[in-house]
Amino acid sequence: MCGIVGILGREKAAPLVVEALKRLEYRGYDSAGVATLEDGHITRLRAEGKLRNLANKLDTHPLKGTIAIGHTRWATHGKPTANNAHPHATDKLAVVHNGIIENFRELRKMMEGEGIVFKTETDTEVVAQLVTRELATTNDPRTAVARALPQLRGAFALAFIFEGEPDLMIGARQGAPLAVGHGDGEMYLGSDALALAPFTDTITYLDDGDWVVLTRTDHDFRDAKNNKVARKTQKTSAGAFLVDKGNHRHFMAKEIHEQPEVVGRTLAHYLDMAKAEVALPFTLPFDWKDLTRLTISACGTAYLAGYIAKYWFERYARLPVEIDVASEFRYREAPLPEKGLALFISQSGETADTLAALRYAKENGQKILSVVNVTTSTIARESDIIAPILSGPEIGVASTKAFTCQLAVLACLAISAGVARGTLGRDEAARLVNELILTPGRISEALHREPAIRDIAQRLTKATDVLYLGRGTAYPLALEGALKLKEISYIHAEAYAAGELKHGPIALIDEKMPVIVIAPHDPLYEKTISNMQEVAARGGNIILIAEDEAAEQSGLAGIAHVAMPAMATDFAAIPYAVPVQLLAYWTAFLLGKDVDQPRNLAKSVTVE
Ligand code: G6P
Repeated sequence: MCGIVGILGREKAAPLVVEALKRLEYRGYDSAGVATLEDGHITRLRAEGKLRNLANKLDTHPLKGTIAIGHTRWATHGKPTANNAHPHATDKLAVVHNGIIENFRELRKMMEGEGIVFKTETDTEVVAQLVTRELATTNDPRTAVARALPQLRGAFALAFIFEGEPDLMIGARQGAPLAVGHGDGEMYLGSDALALAPFTDTITYLDDGDWVVLTRTDHDFRDAKNNKVARKTQKTSAGAFLVDKGNHRHFMAKEIHEQPEVVGRTLAHYLDMAKAEVALPFTLPFDWKDLTRLTISACGTAYLAGYIAKYWFERYARLPVEIDVASEFRYREAPLPEKGLALFISQSGETADTLAALRYAKENGQKILSVVNVTTSTIARESDIIAPILSGPEIGVASTKAFTCQLAVLACLAISAGVARGTLGRDEAARLVNELILTPGRISEALHREPAIRDIAQRLTKATDVLYLGRGTAYPLALEGALKLKEISYIHAEAYAAGELKHGPIALIDEKMPVIVIAPHDPLYEKTISNMQEVAARGGNIILIAEDEAAEQSGLAGIAHVAMPAMATDFAAIPYAVPVQLLAYWTAFLLGKDVDQPRNLAKSVTVE
């Protein structure tokens, strides 16, 4: 979602801001802008669409100020036009904003009543006007911001610069992340450490409710009550990760192909391979034995990782699992068991709904375990214990390697829970661990099927609707397949539990509709294949993802088949994720879609 970069520097800051914003492109955006001070006066450039449009404007109208704030906007209030793009400005200041100001209508009405004229449709402009209004009674920008912030409701990260103040930048955060970067005689603000990586590896995250006054050589952190506070400065390794595509056309392709390596690395962190045991790299602040229920909540792909894990926790640990998408869970007023455990899964660790669900669980006395990629994120910081997925930065909006690394961690947790609860014997646990150890190799083998998958994807490019079917863990994986295809190819796709086919979706089957059947060779295999026969009997256009012999055994001539390697099927969802991801990738690629930055989507969704 929206990205923020601010520089209080020594060189021309606007081009550096635009360059740094490119590192936030992955979050998803539809317009961009930058503001600086030239001879003390606020000057802005804004453009609809991609950052190259802004960069072109900057080439023709170079900005020379050494202070600048920039923004990539993902539209919430008002269309993604240049006029609605940030920074928003008055004759006193410019501001960029990530999040939503929930009470913007009231504030706007109040100020319009006073004769203030608004120039955009955005919620953010009320922030610019509100601080300007305070500046009419105090000439001090710090005081004006301190008075304005408590009037704002909602989620926001903000960065301000002020007319005639070339050595002053103010940042604020409530609900959306913001970090200060410390340079040598320079200061930075950014939505995450990745954006600031080219400038500095020394970062201080603002806590929720904090705001900060920056000059080139000083910082003054304040909490929501305007008390001076100290926040921990840390070294980040964000710069160590090369954010480039390597030999791949897209980040998504690179991230799909990285999976054998990153899943292997994650497993190495959670397993004692020599002893064939799970060896969690942290001590849990609860005992699996005491739990009567596990509550899981997340959004998007992370939710589907949780859905697969539900099968594992129930099967191996005999632990009942409740799972819901965070946007529903947070408002459902779900009763939670005393001393229960709530598990949250989030790549970014900043998803607003997941964070709200976490806070609800905490208020209701649950211990909080979070499976996250970004270990400095808000969700990570508010959890009792985090299980990092260690996938490295994921740039493609459509989650791939984070998904399989989440599954790897969740599988280890489920085995660990089973052993602790006495529902898994030593030998069975060792067998499962050995299965996990084979997973990176199986992912590699699945990647070798790419040429065949590309050919099959050609069929999907002609479809307007696609149905995915699966049973057991292949059902949530089918949901993930449909989600991936929708996200990046814009083809309508749905997933059903194969057993539900007859209860409705079978009515849709005709020769035009591709039906993707995910059928690992597990105890439900025969049943899934029977459902596939029902599709075939109605002339359906079948694409089967199953082991080598499956197509032949089915007796159905001419069906498309992604032949998977033979494997025990406990954790088959992990290698089977690969063909599902590649089918979506190649379909989108062949259709000429923007694979890494699909329209309307954001990587880190910091609004409800
Ligand atoms: C967005 C992203 C998805 C992601 C979901 C949850 O919708 O586009 O890829 O799965 O948010 O994000 P999280 O960071 O919490 O895993």
